[in-house]
Amino acid sequence: MAFEGGDGSGKSTQARLLADRLRAEGQDVLLTREPGGTEVGERLRSLVLDPAHAPIDAVTEALIFAASRSAHVRQLIDPALRSGRTVVTDRYVDSSVAYQGAGRALGPDTVAGLNEWATDGLHPDLTVLLDVDTTTAAARRAARAQSPGGTGPDRMESEPEAFHRSIRAAFTERAAAHPERYLVLDAGQAVPELASAVWGRVAHLFGGQLGGQLGGRFGGPDDAGGEARR
Ligand code: TYD
Repeated sequence: MAFEGGDGSGKSTQARLLADRLRAEGQDVLLTREPGGTEVGERLRSLVLDPAHAPIDAVTEALIFAASRSAHVRQLIDPALRSGRTVVTDRYVDSSVAYQGAGRALGPDTVAGLNEWATDGLHPDLTVLLDVDTTTAAARRAARAQSPGGTGPDRMESEPEAFHRSIRAAFTERAAAHPERYLVLDAGQAVPELASAVWGRVAHLFGGQLGGQLGGRFGGPDDAGGEARR
């Protein structure tokens, strides 16, 4: 399962709540995030997001996110799935398609192709898109920056409103193209309401098998075939 959305959409909270709920149902869950998740991924994260670093051109930026994702899939996600765990990731390929493909204008297809290679075609069973209007998201980011211990905006967050609007459009277009693999929610709703909508869809996906033993959930190009998960 993957959670996607713009900065300030609340996806990290929802990813954590889903992981907690699945654990309460007896699932062995790997909760992870991108960029990051592995040692190399965390180092790439600070490299690519720290506003103190020199400007990074768009192609290099896309390659860094893809490199971080490749490490994430090969070192963490794939082994977890193979051992029967359920994987919940805070951001995945769609973030690159939206931020680098649309936001940085590299083209969604180019970035999607690069990421097919990086992930060996591993797709989530379900992607939850938390769709938030860009004004609300900007207000949330500002509130977070001012909260105790809050950090300043990263390199993406400091981009202008038009950048965030193009990202939002790219996320929703991708979801509309594959409705069977997406749950799109209005992130303006309260946290418990969102969590219960997510849970409704996830429980359906598990098809009544929660509480019992179940193989790894994340998915592949053809989730019905075991080899798709490699
Ligand atoms: P995230 O950790 O979700 O930030 P936060 O927790 O502060 O909301 O994501 C970090 C930033 O990296 C976010 O602005 C989106 C960006 N990003 C990309 O541009 N491309 C990618 O492929 C990924 C995974 C993230």
